[in-house]
Amino acid sequence: MTTVLLLNGPNLGILGEREPEIYGHDTLDDIAGFVADEVAGAGWKVVSIQDDCEGELVRAVHAHRSSTVGAIVNPGALMMAGWSLRDALAAYPAPWIEVHLSNVWAREQFRHESVIAPLASGVIVGFGSLGYRLAARALLRLSE
Ligand code: DQA
Repeated sequence: MTTVLLLNGPNLGILGEREPEIYGHDTLDDIAGFVADEVAGAGWKVVSIQDDCEGELVRAVHAHRSSTVGAIVNPGALMMAGWSLRDALAAYPAPWIEVHLSNVWAREQFRHESVIAPLASGVIVGFGSLGYRLAARALLRLSE
């Protein structure tokens, strides 16, 4: 079975309740469903992992590095300083897309740098939960 890794970092487990004026009303389960819908036509499945701890995200990247064909990664605030997540993703062999629900460049200065974006196949920001759908479509295209 072809599988996509959906990886969400700190504070994204409470989507739907968390500052909905910034992050919207969809929950992470909703988002996992959206991604699953996008890839179902190709016969792909989604493994969805959220953790507030960087080390657990590193473990998840390692655990799925050879069993997944691509990843959608919202690192949350780890975008700014998640060096060990960055190194785990550097060793992830398939394409992966960085997603942020909000337009991080329209927000505080400290959100303007991503240590992981230079390694991503692409970055999608500011489209809310639609960004995850777009990332799923991009992974499908990249795998053609
Ligand atoms: C976020 C943006 C980050 O700056 C923030 O720390 C998050 C969410 C987003 O999806 O917009 O936790 O990654």
